[in-house]
Amino acid sequence: MTPASIPPVRLWAMPTAELTEDDVAAWLDVLDDTERSRVARLAIPRTRIEYASAHALTRAMLSAASGEAPTAFRYEIGFKGKPRAFIGDRPLDLHFNISHTDGLVAVAVSRHCELGIDVEAVDRSVDLAVADRYFFGAEADWLAVQPRDRQLESFLRLWTLKEAYIKATGRGLSQPLDEFWFDVDPPRIRFTPAIDDDERAWRFHQRVLADRFMVSAGWRSAGGVDLGLVVEMKRSAELF
Ligand SMILES: CC(C)(COP(=O)(O)OP(=O)(O)OC[C@H]1O[C@@H](n2cnc3c(N)ncnc32)[C@H](O)[C@@H]1OP(=O)(O)O)[C@@H](O)C(=O)NCCC(=O)NCCS
Repeated sequence: MTPASIPPVRLWAMPTAELTEDDVAAWLDVLDDTERSRVARLAIPRTRIEYASAHALTRAMLSAASGEAPTAFRYEIGFKGKPRAFIGDRPLDLHFNISHTDGLVAVAVSRHCELGIDVEAVDRSVDLAVADRYFFGAEADWLAVQPRDRQLESFLRLWTLKEAYIKATGRGLSQPLDEFWFDVDPPRIRFTPAIDDDERAWRFHQRVLADRFMVSAGWRSAGGVDLGLVVEMKRSAELF
């Protein structure tokens, strides 16, 4: 396969604010026992709706990308909690990553690279003081010079990029956040010597969806090819 013929990373996002428990009830049949029992254990109705929506969206997308039935997949929780999909004993030849936030769920899929995504609502409440704790010095300096009325959006641009990276590696919060930082425009990762990797191999893309959700996606791209990101908004009626 030539670099130009490698398909882009695809991301599906679905708004959830209007969905009720009745709306998502039919999707429980598509989930497996582990997913259904996780839904049952969640105490907050909105969280149950978001989890069921994210996992139904994931099965719909894996099905569309593989040609298998949505019920065909089982998951194994890997390194530091990152799920991987299987069909029976065979690992599915697709990488995926899920993110949920209040009002939106998203999943991205690639056949070619391990990836990470993060979505956050831009009107969520954030204590901007945490920037000093989580952000590298250069990032905090960049944030400090952004316009006052764009502080929250700028904060979330950085936050979602950092999450996309730690979810792409699968290390999650076991990845020390002071070992890497981002240039934001255009998104580009920088490594301290603690990370023995080629920063030029990494690609990050960032979008605002439906005017209120920041989404970042990142992956390590073999050969330095930028596969590109194709984003589709899905409505719940379109899933199955
Ligand atoms: C779990 C974590 C990987 C992401 O958590 P999050 O941002 O709260 O949640 P998201 O909705 O974006 O992602 C959750 C999904 O990621 C997947 N996931 C879980 N662990 C993962 C890991 N180690 N790597 C990649 N993906 C992971 C799962 O599919 C999970 O959804 P599910 O439980 O419904 O299957 C981890 O980074 C975390 O706990 N973050 C907390 C936020 C924070 O402090 N960030 C500081 C960065 S500036």
